[in-house]
Amino acid sequence: MTIKRLGRGVAIVGAGMSKFGVFAEKATRDLFVEAFGEMRVSVDKGLDPKDIEALYVGNCSSDLFEGQGHTAPLMADWAGLAPRPATRVEDACASSGVALREGIIAIASGLYDVVLAGGIEKMTNLPTEQVTDTLAIAGDVLYEIPAGFTFPGFYAAMATVYMARYGATPETFMQVGLKNHENGALNDKAQFGATIRQVMEKKVARAKAKGRPIPTWADEMDFLHDDRANPVVAWPMRLFDCSPISDGAAAVLLASEAVARSFTDDPIYVIGSGQASDVAMHDRADLTTLRAARVAARQAYEMAGVGPADVKVAEVHDCFTIAEVIATEDLNFFPPGQGYKAVEEGLTARTGPRPINTSGGLKSKGHPVGASGAGQVVEIWKQMRGAGGARQVPGDVNLALTHNVGGTGQTSVIHIYERR
Ligand code: COA
Repeated sequence: MTIKRLGRGVAIVGAGMSKFGVFAEKATRDLFVEAFGEMRVSVDKGLDPKDIEALYVGNCSSDLFEGQGHTAPLMADWAGLAPRPATRVEDACASSGVALREGIIAIASGLYDVVLAGGIEKMTNLPTEQVTDTLAIAGDVLYEIPAGFTFPGFYAAMATVYMARYGATPETFMQVGLKNHENGALNDKAQFGATIRQVMEKKVARAKAKGRPIPTWADEMDFLHDDRANPVVAWPMRLFDCSPISDGAAAVLLASEAVARSFTDDPIYVIGSGQASDVAMHDRADLTTLRAARVAARQAYEMAGVGPADVKVAEVHDCFTIAEVIATEDLNFFPPGQGYKAVEEGLTARTGPRPINTSGGLKSKGHPVGASGAGQVVEIWKQMRGAGGARQVPGDVNLALTHNVGGTGQTSVIHIYERR
C-alpha cells in the first residue's frame, strides 16, 4: 500500500484545557468554556472566534453521564461559535484523539482553514458503580460484559498475561503509578496534583486530625503494598494502578499551513496521523499488545517519515498502569517484553532518555474519557514550545507523539508533531 499523506499541511496554533478533577458545581459546558478560554489566550497573535469555521468535539457518553445528548452544537453555543458546524465524535476513550484527526482531515481536504478540535466529559455525576456500567458500553455488551468484565478487569487480564509471559511483577506497575504521580504533582491541571509521598503524608495528617491510629509506611512501595491504602480493584491492578473518574475538557486550535502563521510564529505541525480498529478482546490472539495501536503507529510513522527513536516526548494512554507499558512497546520505543524493564530502569521518567506522560498521564492528571486525547495534545503543545514549567523536559523537543486508545484497544489513534 502506498504511504498516505495529508492533502496539505496542518498545524496546531493554540491549545488549552480545564483543570481535570471532580467539579460538582460545573456542567460539561462550563468546563468546555474554560478550555476554550485558555486555548484562546494561548494563541500568540490572538484569535477572533469568528475565524473558527467548524468544531469537532470528542465525547464518550454525556447521554448517560449527564442525561445530555447532542453535545457538539451545545459546546458551539456556549463558546459563542454558533452557527458554525459542530460534530460530536464518539470512539470511547479515544473520542477526542479521533476528533483531532477529523479536524486535521477536514483542513487537509481544503474544506476549512481553521478548526477547533476538543473533548469533553463529566463523569462524576454518577456513583462509581454506575460509572463502571456506563464505561462498560465501550466493551462488547453481547460477549464480554455478560462474562463479568469491567474495564479494570479487562486491563487486569492483559496484566496477568503480560506478567506470565515476560516476568513483570505487580511492583513494575506500581513504578508506573509512582512516576506518573511525580509528574502530575508538577501539573496544576492534574486531578491528583500530588506525589505518592504527598498522598501518604495527607493520610497521616488526616488520621492525626481525626484521632485515628496513625498509619506507618516505610516508603512509597510499602504504602502501595498496603491493602487498606491501595486496595486491589482487579488483581494485579490496585487503586493506584487505575486512572480516576474525572470531569474535564480540552480544546485545540488547528489551522492550515497557509494561515497558521497569522496566529503564531511558532506553530506545531501535525506530520503523522494514524488510526486503526481491532476485534473485541475475547477474539484476540495476543493480550500483551494492541494490534490497533501497532497499525496506527505504523501509519503515523510512515506518514511523518520518522521512527520511534526520533520522538522526544510522548503522551500515551495509561488508563491503567499496564496500558502504559504495552503502549511503549506498541510504539516500538522498546521491544516486546522490554517495556516493563524500561520503567524499572527509569528510562521513561521525565528526566530519562524516553520521557513518557510528563503531564502525569491519565493516572494522575485524570481521565475524563472523551477529553483525554485532546488533553494529551495540550501537554505536547506546552512541551514542544518550552512552556512545560517545572515538568519541562530538557533539550529541544522538536518531535513528539500522542497515543490515545478507545476501550481495550478497539480504537487507537496516534499523532506525530513537529516544531520547525
Ligand atoms: N487513584 C488514586 N486514588 C484514587 C483513585 C485513583 N484512580 N480513584 C479514587 N481515588 C481516591 C480518592 O481521591 C479518595 O481519596 P480520599 O479518601 O483520600 O479522599 C479515595 O480514593 C476513594 O475515592 P472513591 O471515589 O470513593 O473511589 P472508588 O473506589 O469509588 O473508585 C476506582 C476507585 C478505581 C474504582 C475508580 O476510580 C475507577 O473505576 N477507575 C477506573 C475508571 C475507568 O475504568 N476508566 C476508563 C478506562 S478504559
